[in-house]
Amino acid sequence: MRTIDVNIPGREYKIYIEGGLLGRCASILGPIVKGRKAAVITDTNVAPLYYEEMERQLSAAGASPFKVVVEAGENSKSLSVFERVCGEIMENDFSRADCVVALGGGVVGDLAGFAASTILRGVTLVQVPTTLLSQVDSSVGGKTAVNLSCGKNLVGTFYQPSAVIIDMDTLSTLPQREMACGMAEIIKYAAIRDKEMGERLLDGDYELADIVARCCEIKAEIVVNDERDTGERMLLNFGHTIGHAVENYYGYGTLSHGAAVAIGMCIMTEYAEKMGYTKKGTLDIIKALNEKYGLPTGCGHRAELAGAAGHDKKRKGDSLSIVLVREMGDGYYMKVNKSALEDIVRG
Ligand code: NAD
Ligand code: GLY
Repeated sequence: MRTIDVNIPGREYKIYIEGGLLGRCASILGPIVKGRKAAVITDTNVAPLYYEEMERQLSAAGASPFKVVVEAGENSKSLSVFERVCGEIMENDFSRADCVVALGGGVVGDLAGFAASTILRGVTLVQVPTTLLSQVDSSVGGKTAVNLSCGKNLVGTFYQPSAVIIDMDTLSTLPQREMACGMAEIIKYAAIRDKEMGERLLDGDYELADIVARCCEIKAEIVVNDERDTGERMLLNFGHTIGHAVENYYGYGTLSHGAAVAIGMCIMTEYAEKMGYTKKGTLDIIKALNEKYGLPTGCGHRAELAGAAGHDKKRKGDSLSIVLVREMGDGYYMKVNKSALEDIVRG
């Protein structure tokens, strides 16, 4: 089993990664959940696949599990679903000593994390991510959120889990489109921090569990240095600022989040190479990685997209941070104003 330590002072936890781990995680869960009720928040796709095993393991670990199911999909990251979930949890005589388990992708993870951080002013949280994206990104680092009708992730908290349990075998049931979304985040990690991982991804010579572990390690390092997202953590937004604009413009759901991020990484790197900020040839590597993993390398309607890009929620006044890479494995960020970002997107 691969384990990664997330050493945030006072809130240290471990990430456990192994194929088949869901079926034998009782010993990991025991010290965290023993003698407690465990509200397992999951969704309509994941519950029939993995809830029974989760329930068995929690029971074997000495907890009393019960299930709270939300509709699969981004719409469940809403205040109304949050209220319903909290209500169902409290109807089970839940106390501050009890715990929440997030069993599912990033939607469940963000919603359950937000619930765990606010119910009774905060209860123990365990993340059991079942999508590639949630395994390499959303389950680690403690960002929780729900969406408002005016934007994504606008209400949330920073709240670290007590453990992250990653069973690689859960990916066997994940649709290809969702696998590609996770690959976009993995390519992002290679671009900002690990050139050698990028090479392995291009060769196709690797075990996915090692790649997931490396991404978790990179994210853990970044989060330990900048939990509250005021500096280094912004690197994790490589491809995302433009990606959000792409998603907005094309309509959420039309293009997957991963596809939008993939396009964002290409547009940003195309600009940075042109300006001399990025070593020539880097765009070709990112494009080759995207192509290998079924992700796009560009899109049309760049002039229209430019307007959407200026409306990023992370904009402070007229300025926002963009993330670039000097070369593969070496990400950095800088502030630009809204009109500069619009120019980048326009191309
Ligand atoms: P998701 O949770 O919607 O999962 C994608 C789809 O896969 C859903 O239909 C889900 O039911 C299904 N699914 C999940 N696991 C499965 C499995 N093992 N087998 C079959 N189907 C399965 O989406 P996601 O891509 O995991 O997460 C996206 C969310 O994560 C977004 O809301 C995004 O904002 C958030 N996010 C958060 C962070 C963070 O740091 N908190 C980081 C990145 C993304
Ligand atoms: N996914 C971005 C972050 O965790 O900061």
